[in-house]
Amino acid sequence: MQTRACILRYIGSMIVLGIETSCDETAAAIVRDDDTGAGKIVSNVVLSQLDDHRAFGGVVPEIAARAHLEHLDAIVARALDEAGLDLAEIDGIAATAGPGLIGGVHVGTITGKAIASARGLPFVAVNHLEAHALTARLTNDLAFPYLLLLVSGGHCQLLAVEALGQYTLLGTTIDDAIGEAFDKTAKLLGLGFPGGPAVQEAAAHGDPKRFSLPRPLKGREGCDFSFSGLKTAVRQAALKLDDPAPRQDIHDLAAGFQAAVCDTVADRCRNAFDLFAQAHDGDPPALVAAGGVAANLALRETLETICVARGVALVVPPPALCTDNAAMVAWAGLERLRAGITSPMDFRPRPRWPLAELSAAE
Ligand code: KG4
Ligand code: ZN
Repeated sequence: MQTRACILRYIGSMIVLGIETSCDETAAAIVRDDDTGAGKIVSNVVLSQLDDHRAFGGVVPEIAARAHLEHLDAIVARALDEAGLDLAEIDGIAATAGPGLIGGVHVGTITGKAIASARGLPFVAVNHLEAHALTARLTNDLAFPYLLLLVSGGHCQLLAVEALGQYTLLGTTIDDAIGEAFDKTAKLLGLGFPGGPAVQEAAAHGDPKRFSLPRPLKGREGCDFSFSGLKTAVRQAALKLDDPAPRQDIHDLAAGFQAAVCDTVADRCRNAFDLFAQAHDGDPPALVAAGGVAANLALRETLETICVARGVALVVPPPALCTDNAAMVAWAGLERLRAGITSPMDFRPRPRWPLAELSAAE
C-alpha cells in the first residue's frame, strides 16, 4: 500500500478524502486525479438532513451541527468503503472550513484535522465557495480563466475565476441570496421545504406571464443582484389570491417568480460578459454555473440561450454536484495539494469567508 501511495505521488496523481458539513448535508467523498491532471470521483456519499429541519421550514443551525456530529464518522467510513480504499491509501484530507453554519463547519474541520494528524497526512481547509467554483474543473476538465455564476442558498455572485485562489468579484447580491429568494417564495406559497425544487416543480405547471412581476436592477450597469423587491411583489400578489389559493394561481405565481429571476440573471450575466471581455481582451471561454440554484432547469435553459447568443460555452455540473457535496471539497483540496498548498492544524473555521478575499497561499 505504502509503495502504491508513493508511486501515485511520484507520477503526480493523488487521492483525497473530502468532508462537507457547512449546511444541512453531511458528506464525505474520495476524488483522485490521473497523470494528465483530470479528476475522477471514486465515491461520493451525501446524507441529507432535510427531514430533521422540515418541521421548522428551514435549516436550524444547532440541529444541523448535532446531526453532523452524529453521522460524520459513519459517512466517512462509507465513502472509504464504497471506494474500496483504506485510509493508508489516501494522500490528503480536505474539509470545508467556511463559510457556513459554524457549528457544522467545526465538526467537519475537527474531524478532518483528527484524521490527518492521526495518519500523518496533509490537511487542507477548503473554502466552500471555492469548492463550488472549481467543480467544473473536476467534471469538465475546464482550463482557467472562466466566468462563474455562483448561485446558492447563501450566495449570488458573478466572478472571474482567473486561477486557483484568484477570484475577481464582478457583482453580488445587495439583499437576499438567490436560493434564499426561492426558499422564501416557496414558504410564502405554501410549497414546502426545500424551496428551490418545489418552486421549480410548481412553475412547470404554471403560466409565467399571468402575473406581472419586477425584474430588479435589469438594464442597470454592473452585475449586482437584488431579490427583495421581487419577493415583496410575490407576497403582494399572493395576498390578493383567494383563501385558500387555487392551485393554478400558486403555479402561475411560482412560474412568474422563476421567470423574473431568470430574466434578471440573464441581464446580469450579459454585463458580466462585457466586464470580463474588457479585462481579458476577449470573451470568457466559458460561463460556469455553480451552487444549488444551478440545478434549476429553467435557469439552465436561460443561461444556454445567452451563451449561444454570445458564442460562449456553458458549463453546468450535474445537479448532484451543484448542490452541496463532498466531491467538490475533495477536488478543491486536491487542486491545492497539487499546487503545494496545505493548511496549518490551527486553521480556524470561518463563518464568513468571501471568495474574493481568498488567495492561493492560504
Ligand atoms: O449550494 P447549496 O446546496 O447550499 C448552499 O451552500 O447554500 O444551495 C442550496 C440552495 C437552496 O436555497 C435550494 O432551495 C436551492 O439551492 N436549490 C434550487 C434548486 N435546487 C436547489 N433552487 C432552484 N431550483 C432548484 N432546482
Ligand atoms: Zn453550497
